[in-house]
Amino acid sequence: MGRTKSSKIAELASLVNVIQGEYDIKGRWSEMHFGNANPIVAELGCGRGDYTVELAKRFPAINFIGIDLKGARLWRGAKNALASNLINVVFLRTAIRKLEEYFAADEISEIWLTFPDPYPKRRHESLRLTSPRFLNLYRKILKPDGAIHLKTDDPDLFDYTIKAVKADGWRIREAFDDIYGKPVNNEIIYIQTKYEKQHLADGKKIRYMKFIPQ
Ligand SMILES: C[S@@+](CC[C@H](N)C(=O)[O-])C[C@H]1O[C@@H](n2cnc3c(N)ncnc32)[C@H](O)[C@@H]1O
Repeated sequence: MGRTKSSKIAELASLVNVIQGEYDIKGRWSEMHFGNANPIVAELGCGRGDYTVELAKRFPAINFIGIDLKGARLWRGAKNALASNLINVVFLRTAIRKLEEYFAADEISEIWLTFPDPYPKRRHESLRLTSPRFLNLYRKILKPDGAIHLKTDDPDLFDYTIKAVKADGWRIREAFDDIYGKPVNNEIIYIQTKYEKQHLADGKKIRYMKFIPQ
């Protein structure tokens, strides 16, 4: 029988690679958690942590933090990371708007936004993870030479993001509106999450863009 959502959430407290609740680690992830000065990459809205875990396997000299509010999803990522003996991965359960409580200026090298909820209604714009208030937050914790990666199936969110990042002074380094139709020579953008697999099964195109602070 499968585990219930509440039993997964209850187990989070005992998993060594999960952080939740109040935790004084801002500016000290390298020394307190990872024990090295390797770059830190965060996946925001990581769900089951598919991207975080796969990137961590491929890049052992980079530290990865998967972030999501939903505990039962994080549980899956944390268990997968433990099963693969990955010591360069941790999952943080928090709302993304609280990032500044956990990260100091310049603490993050790169951010991945993997299939964020598109929030198509105009009145929900501020909830989109590429809306100005979130871009402003990312700029505070991202290194000046850092980068943000976005993958989405949603053409409107993709177009919205292009406009939002340009208006906010970011520079778009790459943008592809169909990474499977016109293959791109960058294998890390082909890691597939649960949501991506569903979108591909539904015949949707997958879009990718990378943008950097100016
Ligand atoms: C559509 S799912 C994508 C999950 C995963 N990235 C994937 O591709 O399979 C969006 C995820 O973002 C999380 N999320 C959305 N807004 C969030 C926020 N403001 N703070 C924390 N998590 C958020 C949701 O809980 C959900 O797990």
